[in-house]
Amino acid sequence: MLFSLFTESQSQQVIELFKRVFSAAEGEAEGEVIASFVTQLVTTTQPEDLIGCIAEENDSLVGCLFFSRLWISSGQVAFILSPLAVATEAQRKGVGQGLIQYGLDQLKSLEVNLAFTYGDPSYYGKTGFQQISQDLVKAPCPLSQPIGWLAQSLDGSPIQALSGSTQCVEALNDPSLW
Ligand SMILES: CC(C)(COP(=O)(O)OP(=O)(O)OC[C@H]1O[C@@H](n2cnc3c(N)ncnc32)[C@H](O)[C@@H]1OP(=O)(O)O)[C@@H](O)C(=O)NCCC(=O)NCCS
Repeated sequence: MLFSLFTESQSQQVIELFKRVFSAAEGEAEGEVIASFVTQLVTTTQPEDLIGCIAEENDSLVGCLFFSRLWISSGQVAFILSPLAVATEAQRKGVGQGLIQYGLDQLKSLEVNLAFTYGDPSYYGKTGFQQISQDLVKAPCPLSQPIGWLAQSLDGSPIQALSGSTQCVEALNDPSLW
């Protein structure tokens, strides 16, 4: 398995991967929603606010994830993981967890303080994410499933309670995604 950073020239391949994986997992409509979200993410986000990671096996794309910047009131540097997909035929072989770990290592090398995500706590708990309350850090949009609001510190210091709101990138600032 080869992990590397996403480059813009891979956009079309990556959009198709997300569409294929989410269509198979959650139906065609969800495949369209995620393809549109990833298209917005890669076309409207400033390069310094987006970190994509890809997994390849035998020159074929088998997984992808994106971290995008989350602006928080403390001034610490934070990114949020969304979305993540592993090719249907490559699932349950550790690709997803390997990709997340690779992405977290990239964030640490860039001295990012905090990583957030919104998803299944039992899955993301395997790579260090823990459930947090919105009293600690508010999510940028209202959450339909508050149990999925997750974070981890990347610099060794505990996550401090933050007053005020948080702001995500434009593509993610869509209440229907939350
Ligand atoms: C969710 C997903 C990214 C997991 O990637 P993966 O490479 O299959 O997962 P890994 O092999 O790294 O991890 C497998 C472990 O996670 C668990 N797991 C896998 N998918 C899971 C899910 N959707 N929810 C909870 N746990 C899950 C498995 O039980 C397994 O645990 P075990 O090793 O203790 O048996 C992948 O299945 C996928 O792309 N699914 C469709 C799209 C999706 O739901 N994306 C995430 C939301 S943005």
